[in-house]
Amino acid sequence: MVLVEDQRETIASWLRDADRIVALTGAGISTESGIPDFRGPEGVWTKNPAAEKTATLQHYVGDPEVRRQAWQNRLVAPYWTSEPNAGHRALVDLEHEACLDTLVTQNIDGLHQAAGQDPALVVEIHGTMHEVTCMACGDRTPMEATLDRVRAGEDDPPCLLCRGILKSATISFGQNLVVDDLVRSERAARDCDLLLAVGSSLAVYPAAGLLPLAARAGAEIVIVNGEPTGFDPVADAVIRGPISEVLPHIVGG
Ligand code: APR
Repeated sequence: MVLVEDQRETIASWLRDADRIVALTGAGISTESGIPDFRGPEGVWTKNPAAEKTATLQHYVGDPEVRRQAWQNRLVAPYWTSEPNAGHRALVDLEHEACLDTLVTQNIDGLHQAAGQDPALVVEIHGTMHEVTCMACGDRTPMEATLDRVRAGEDDPPCLLCRGILKSATISFGQNLVVDDLVRSERAARDCDLLLAVGSSLAVYPAAGLLPLAARAGAEIVIVNGEPTGFDPVADAVIRGPISEVLPHIVGG
């Protein structure tokens, strides 16, 4: 659905007038960069519901075969070749043209930073695929170095410091979020006067819980998504359409 002019202008004025905007992004902002989402029509979990059940920390730590497959998947993951799209760039424009306080992303692809977003504004609440962490000693290293070890034949490379299990620095189901990230995101949601949710089914907590926090604080809630979400009924505006087309319209308004 293309934005009708007055709706676009209304929302563009809300963004211009807001004093503290929080943006919450999900996988939908990166699909046009070639990274599949999870619950959309072509989503990873949509296509393979069983995969969601095994995407847990318990399976990864407990089963070497799950880790071996995970390292093979990482070798060919789309993150290494994907580029930011107009949706990511629109949020960079929002940072330059309006009062974007914090960008909380559920995405692990680093495309907001690659688009030029100030990294100090970005909270990667589900971690990042660009680093590896040791599940035993917590050592963090660049993903590329460990992928080189996998390419050289180590199919489940252990930590070089303590021989512990290595994993992408992402948050899997069953894994706690980084407390500082969660506290910072929730504080931002409580203090904002507009929360812009982009490309998320808003199905996973605590990220989705930022919306009611913002709403209770009196913030305007704007949802941009290709499909309905459970929070649409409480939003002040819902814009249905391709993010890379819609977001530049309301930001550049
Ligand atoms: N334009 C508009 N909307 C889009 C586009 C697009 N180009 N592409 C996808 N979408 C929408 C989909 O319709 C879907 O509603 O984006 C939404 C993405 O929702 P999810 O796939 O559920 O992704 P997300 O909300 O980020 O998932 C949250 O779940 O599996 C975990 O850790 C994973 O961070 C992820 C979390």
